[in-house]
Amino acid sequence: MITAKIEAQADFDAWRTTARLLLQNEIAPENVDWEIPGSEGSLFSDLADPISRLKAVRSEIKCPKAFVEIGKRVICFRDPGRFARLYTILWRLQSDRTLLKNTVDPDVIWLTQCDKAVRRDRHKMHAFVRFRIVGLGQFRREQFAAWFEPTHYITELAAPFFKRRFPNMDWVIVTPDCTAIWNGTDLHFTPGGQKSEVPEEDAIEDHWKTYFNSIFNPARLKVGAMIAEMPKKYWKNMPEAIDIPDMIQSARARENAMREHGVTTANPMAETLKSRMALQAAHDQKFKTLADAKNAVQSCRRCPLHCHASQAVFGEGPKNARLMIVGEQPGDQEDIAGRPFVGPAGGVLNAALCEAGIDRDAAYVTNAVKHFKFKVRGKRRIHERPSAGEIDHCRWWLETEKRLVKPDIVLTLGASAVRAILGKNVRISDMRGEAHILSDGTKLFATVHPAFLLRLTDVRRREEELKSFVNDLRQARRVLDRLET
Ligand code: URA
Repeated sequence: MITAKIEAQADFDAWRTTARLLLQNEIAPENVDWEIPGSEGSLFSDLADPISRLKAVRSEIKCPKAFVEIGKRVICFRDPGRFARLYTILWRLQSDRTLLKNTVDPDVIWLTQCDKAVRRDRHKMHAFVRFRIVGLGQFRREQFAAWFEPTHYITELAAPFFKRRFPNMDWVIVTPDCTAIWNGTDLHFTPGGQKSEVPEEDAIEDHWKTYFNSIFNPARLKVGAMIAEMPKKYWKNMPEAIDIPDMIQSARARENAMREHGVTTANPMAETLKSRMALQAAHDQKFKTLADAKNAVQSCRRCPLHCHASQAVFGEGPKNARLMIVGEQPGDQEDIAGRPFVGPAGGVLNAALCEAGIDRDAAYVTNAVKHFKFKVRGKRRIHERPSAGEIDHCRWWLETEKRLVKPDIVLTLGASAVRAILGKNVRISDMRGEAHILSDGTKLFATVHPAFLLRLTDVRRREEELKSFVNDLRQARRVLDRLET
């Protein structure tokens, strides 16, 4: 018997390393005793052979990608038997590569069910974590803490979602098994904690309750469906849920009252919503000139990026330019100067445009996202890629620029820019090298972002990529030339 010890509950890489060693030594699942994290070990574990003493007898291990993907989730399933069962499946995969396709196999059924349970738990964590404000940190960043009790060991699996969602605040999520900490630059994990470490209430507690009360429609209440979606065990950590039992109880009476009166009472959030919609409507008007739009973008509140950027950076160039160049978002220098592509990436772009025979001054140059998104590292502000949601919110401004400039050709630099133009993710490698006709007849050329070239450390590769970049620009120029003749 061999004892395999895993130190952490949800460490798939550690499990995989151990499982590989076992497979390389052809140790069958029934001969492995998987010791679970935190356990004292079995009476016989001292007598068992340690894995580290083993010498590999076989080198080729088959570990299909699909199994790795599912395994990363199933390792989080709260069942001490999961390490052994995963090993059994990996063992069987060595002689049956199609095993995972056999949907009636008991091991595959187990794997699928665990995966479903973990995904569901992750989804619940994303939806039901409630942050309480705890103060202000460095650079006056707001600091939040949340207590959550997941069913499975999913904190590490679920935390990247919160990093993407709340990159600009410091937060801690404490669970009984693991604590996730985000400080604006680094997401890390420490052992679990206790509910008492997180404040129970904060200043925005009442807003949650007011919001939930105001969206609660007694005539639409389906208790079963509500509890299936928001199981009771989560209620105790959700400020708005405290009123649910009362609301369910009074629902029938409220429904009857609504019927009698024939009207609903005013939504307590109505005033706030009205003023927000008025602001939005002011922005949504169809601007007649680029100057008006440029003015208005400064007060854009469509997404939270305005909170930390110095200013919005609008496009610049002739109002009837034939070529529109779209980058990703302003960088550190652009954020200060208020103009696109004036920093290092702008330097590469200018040189490449020059080599391709394109006059930058004749082009309209802009970005998919108008505010600089960054994280603070020491004294530096480090560029952070805008999320799909941020790009989509900002599309409205790009569309406005496109409507007013009416370019014949749009040249997108990088993945964010092409997403902003097409409204969906596409691979640049699939788009490069040819013109794509947009629904309004504009020709789209997609190429890489100049910052990508700056990041390449291998000199030869950089030269090659730079050559391809200039070729892409030349292609756009040739079409421009044809339009002008
Ligand atoms: N990178 C961009 O995408 N745009 C800029 O304006 C500067 C750098």
